[in-house]
Amino acid sequence: MRVSVIGTGHVGLITGVSFAERGNEVWCVDVDRRRIEALKKGTMPFHEPGLREMVRRNARAGRLRFGGSNSDAVAFGEVVFICVPTPPRADGHADMTFVENVSRDIAAALTDYRVIVDKSTVPVLTGERVKLVITRYARKNVVFDVASNPEFLREGSALEDTLNPDRIVFGVESPRAEKILRELYGNFKAPIVVTDIKSAELIKHASNSFLALKISYANALAAVCELAGADVTEVVRGMGLDKRIGSAFLDAGVGYGGSCFPKDVAAFEAISRDLGYDFRLLSEVRGINVEARERFLKKIQEELWIVKGKTLAALGLSFKPNTDDCRESVAIDIVKRLTEMGARVRAYDPEALGTARELLGKSVTYCRSAYEAARGADAALVLTEWKEFAELDLARLKKALGQPVVLDGRNLFDPRAMKASGFLYRSIGRP
Ligand code: UDX
Repeated sequence: MRVSVIGTGHVGLITGVSFAERGNEVWCVDVDRRRIEALKKGTMPFHEPGLREMVRRNARAGRLRFGGSNSDAVAFGEVVFICVPTPPRADGHADMTFVENVSRDIAAALTDYRVIVDKSTVPVLTGERVKLVITRYARKNVVFDVASNPEFLREGSALEDTLNPDRIVFGVESPRAEKILRELYGNFKAPIVVTDIKSAELIKHASNSFLALKISYANALAAVCELAGADVTEVVRGMGLDKRIGSAFLDAGVGYGGSCFPKDVAAFEAISRDLGYDFRLLSEVRGINVEARERFLKKIQEELWIVKGKTLAALGLSFKPNTDDCRESVAIDIVKRLTEMGARVRAYDPEALGTARELLGKSVTYCRSAYEAARGADAALVLTEWKEFAELDLARLKKALGQPVVLDGRNLFDPRAMKASGFLYRSIGRP
C-alpha cells in the first residue's frame, strides 16, 4: 500500500520504516528540513537499535522516501498517519497545536478519499476534533475517514515493539477504513482490537497510566518495606507470579521518567477532569513518583550528612538503559538537585553523555567510564540500570572510590555481595 507519515520523531520514523519493512511504499515528511536532509543521507535523529540499517535498506529498495510537504504526503498515501508531538502544557494538558495545524494542511490538500490516522498519543475526543477541522477546511463533498491507531513502542526496543506488537488497536467509524487498515496490517502477527475512535484513544492513555501506576505501586511498597525491614524485590517476585498481576513494571527505584509516562499520566488526568471526573488515583501515581526521587535524595543526605563540597559519581543519566534519551530523566533531575546543593558531580553514561550535556551544561564533570567517575568520590550513585553497571568489577570500583559508599537507586546490585565486598551499600526498599 502507499502510506504517508507526517512527523519523523520516535513514533513517525519507526512507523514509517516498519511499514516499509513490511513491503509498503512509505513517504515520510517533516517540517524540520535538517532532520529530513540527514535522513536522506542515512543519519538518524536519535539512537534506536537497528534503526539506521533498516532505514538505509528500505530507502535503497525504494520503499522509503523522505522530504516534501504535508500536501505531498496527502497526495501520495492512501493512508496518512499523523505522528506529530503532543507536548505537555504547564497545566498538564497535551498541547494539540501541531495536530490541529497538520489537520488543516491535510484538509487543504484533500481531493480523493483518504484514511487519516492519528498515531500520536492524544486525549480522548481528538479524533472528533480532527474530523471537524478537516470537514471545515476541506473542499465540499470530499470523502475521508478519520481513525485512531495508537502506538505502544518503547524506546530502545521500538522496532521490535512495532513489528511484533502485543496487540494492534484500530479506532474506526466506517467499514471502509477498517478494511484498509486491516489490509495494511495484513502481515503483522498480533491480535487486532477494532473499536470506536474514542475507545481506541483511551486505550493508549489508560495503558500508559496503568503501567505508571504499577511502578508507583512498587515504589510505595518499597517505602513500607524499608519501614518494616522487608525486601521489596522479594515482595514483587511473589506478587508477580500471580498471572493476574504479572511481574513487569513492578521494579522499585527512583521513579519513572521519559517522554511518555510523565506527560501521559498528566494529560489523562487533565482530560478526565475536563470531562467531569477527578481521577484522583492518577494524581497519587504522580505524587508517589516524585516522592521516590525525594526519598533517594534524602538517603544521600543521610549518608553524607552535608552534601555541599562532596564529590559524587553519578552512574547513568538517560531516563532508562539502552537509550541516549534524557527527556524527563529522573537521573538528570537528581544530578541537578545535587549540584544545586553544592555537590561536585562526576557523571558517566554509556550512551547519553551528549544529550545530558545539553541539559546539565558545565555543572558536572563528564567521564569516560564508571571507574573514572568514581575516582576519589565520596559515594557512587546508581541512577540508570545499564547492564554495564551490573557487570562492574567491584574491587576496581571500590579502589577508585574515595569512600566505599554506593547508593543504588535502581536495585542493580545484590546487597549481600556489596556488603561482602566491603561497601556501605543502600538501595531501594531492601534491608
Ligand atoms: C513507554 C511505554 O512503555 C510505551 O508503551 C509507550 O508507547 C511510551 O511510553 P518508554 O517511555 O520508552 O515507553 O519507557 P518504558 O520502558 O516504559 O519506561 C518508562 C520509565 O519507567 C523509565 O524511566 C523506567 O526506568 C521506569 N520503570 C520501568 C521503572 O521505574 N520501573 C519499572 O518496573 C519499569
